[in-house]
Amino acid sequence: MRALGSTRSTQKKNNRMKILFASSEAHPLIKTGGLADVSASLPSALRSLGADIRLILPAYRPILDKLNGQLDPLGFITLTDASAPVRLLGGILPGSEVPLILVDSPLHFDRAGDPYRATDGRDWQDNHIRFALFSRALMKIALDDAGLRWRPDIVHCNDWQTGLAPALLTLERQRPATVFTIHNLAYQGIFPANAREEIHLPPALWNHNGVEFHGRLSFIKGGLSAADRITTVSPTYAREIRTHQFGYGLEGLLTHRSHVLSGILNGIDHDEWDPSSDPHLPAHYSTDSPGGKADCKKALQAHFGLEMSADTPLVAHVGRMVGQKGVDLILEALPPLLDAGRIQFVILGNGERNLEWDVRRLAERYPSLVGAHIGYDEALAHRIEAGADIFLMPSRFEPCGLNQMYSLRYGAIPVVRRTGGLADTVFPADENRPAGDEGTGILFDAPTAEALRNALESALRLYGSPATWGDMVRRAMSQDFSWTRSAREYLDLYAAITRK
Ligand code: ADP
Ligand code: GLC
Repeated sequence: MRALGSTRSTQKKNNRMKILFASSEAHPLIKTGGLADVSASLPSALRSLGADIRLILPAYRPILDKLNGQLDPLGFITLTDASAPVRLLGGILPGSEVPLILVDSPLHFDRAGDPYRATDGRDWQDNHIRFALFSRALMKIALDDAGLRWRPDIVHCNDWQTGLAPALLTLERQRPATVFTIHNLAYQGIFPANAREEIHLPPALWNHNGVEFHGRLSFIKGGLSAADRITTVSPTYAREIRTHQFGYGLEGLLTHRSHVLSGILNGIDHDEWDPSSDPHLPAHYSTDSPGGKADCKKALQAHFGLEMSADTPLVAHVGRMVGQKGVDLILEALPPLLDAGRIQFVILGNGERNLEWDVRRLAERYPSLVGAHIGYDEALAHRIEAGADIFLMPSRFEPCGLNQMYSLRYGAIPVVRRTGGLADTVFPADENRPAGDEGTGILFDAPTAEALRNALESALRLYGSPATWGDMVRRAMSQDFSWTRSAREYLDLYAAITRK
């Protein structure tokens, strides 16, 4: 009986889908944006559904510091583009049970700064070398050539930093199936043509069906032209990127490959982002017991030294300060409302120096109405979602966007542009039929300050009617954006290309 039992469990084990999930960032180890959140929560959700998934990241200095004493050497690999053997380290992604593999090449990853930029904000000059090395390391593991005795069925790559891997794998006879997910087509990893010699690119890949893009080397093209399946992080963005406006010159290739391209909406980690238990918050609340939100608002006003007013709508924004996010539209839209003392505004973010500068100036101009924190602060991001009444996302494009989902869950009504994942996650409120309405936020179309201001005016009118507003907040907070459904969609996709 026992023997039979163990055979069965071995069989079950062997039938588990083996996935190598490759990313350049993952929360809580290293994060510059939503890619990190997804690279942690999706593998965790896939593991809960029974997949044998391993997450692979470069061994950046902050990760080694955070996991000091919790990593085991897995062995060394020799790569064509590294002068010294590269060490693989094994551990567990904190807060999960997901096995973690780190590619430890100190020359490339042991530095101050973030994964892509030095502390002065400029891209590392050797990013092509760093991420080619990372892609080659994951290829070794993909081919079970790294001494791990584990051969994945699927290599799931994310964004340009991993784009070379699917292309390199096409040159191998026995290879796993590949999936490439676009989190943001605006970042493509494009380098001068001579970079290909520095990364020892196989000549077979240097053509317009491979990684050549108008005479330059494009990492993302490796993923887009070679992966067995391409996904992106919302159905609407999957359609948008096939157009000239959103395709950045890749719309032709994406249209050509549309039979293998699909959009799977991101989920969010409902445990990490839960206003009823979030350790970052001064008070907790839920749809059944909403009172704590007012305390969170008070605490936020106090934090930023704003007037302590329970009735003034508190509007917020959190995000990278780059053109994509439309911070300039916010800066242009708000002054008339601030002059009239009709709103307060709180903003957290960092990025382009001129935007940071303009945001600081706005806060100086309205000290009792505007609070700004230029920098990166995970705990404050949670406190802002909890304290805010309204959350602005006037993005020019938004592949998915996580902040609007966090906002919904925290009862901060999102005012968003109708694009990408924003259009797929926020349901438009109709001011004219508040009772029978299913809306959870306000959507607008034109990427202008005027359209944003009109949308915000509409939100303020709804805010002026407490019963209607309360209903909308409850509806927003009850939306289910947990990963389960989307993770299943990924499993179905993996199954379709491996026949498992
Ligand atoms: P993107 O990935 O384009 O930056 P998302 O909305 O998908 O946009 O994800 C952004 C994530 O990064 C969210 O978790 C958000 O809270 C976080 N974030 C962005 N900027 C900051 C910041 N300055 N401080 C703290 N968290 C931030
Ligand atoms: C990107 C996108 C964002 C998306 C995130 C996670 O950074 O800009 O819209 O939510 O990736 O997929």
